[in-house]
Amino acid sequence: MIVNSQEELEGLKKAANAVAVTLVKMKEFAKVGISTKELDDYGAEILASFGAISAPIKDYEFPGHNCISLNNEACHGVPSADKILKEGDLLNIDVSAELNGFYGDNGASFIIGEDLNNHMPLVTASNEILNIAISSIKKDVKICNIGWLIQSEARKRGFQVIHNLFGHGIGRKLHESPQRVPCFMDKTIKERFQKNSVIAIETFISTKARYLYEMEDGWTLRANDNSFIAQHEHTIVVTDKEPIILTAANGN
Ligand code: CO
Ligand code: CO
Repeated sequence: MIVNSQEELEGLKKAANAVAVTLVKMKEFAKVGISTKELDDYGAEILASFGAISAPIKDYEFPGHNCISLNNEACHGVPSADKILKEGDLLNIDVSAELNGFYGDNGASFIIGEDLNNHMPLVTASNEILNIAISSIKKDVKICNIGWLIQSEARKRGFQVIHNLFGHGIGRKLHESPQRVPCFMDKTIKERFQKNSVIAIETFISTKARYLYEMEDGWTLRANDNSFIAQHEHTIVVTDKEPIILTAANGN
């Protein structure tokens, strides 16, 4: 959406703050020995305390309040009592929700406890590249050029980017125009960032693979090799200068 009033901006800020605080608290709660279902239930309580409604449930009938993806699961992982967190696991939590008609969306990958499997370079790259991309977005910048920036920053660090998942416009719905804000140079995308537009900008940084595939559960995406993927995501408002980061409270 395009923000047209202070009232709309305030509504967006409230929704974005609800998802950002939920994400922070879920990151703190994620410990060795708990299941991703327990983690999801905890996140659901926090969203409810804000009066926010899980967007995956509301918009997609997803079987969980939050997408929680473990190790080789790249995204849209389904919370499960059978998935128990272990030391050194790579975990991604993506929290999106609606509050009073406005949507916020944010996500983060991180490591459970000690980095036994050397995931830190990938996680750090994803987080840093998200912030590099955000600081380069302003009115009239070509969307595809930000894709190129993310891709080249990933390659500099020895990583790849995913070519079939995208950031997106957001605001009155979870996914709005522009439908595709890629992590790579996609010359078919001619649009530029518009002033006051609300964007969920996200990285999908991969150790090797460039494409993700849906698993048999009909939700979870992963690569067809053993690649690990890290994602970080903020909801922002585009301005003449640096964007306003609505989900800044998640600490990405
Ligand atoms: Co998200
Ligand atoms: Co998103």
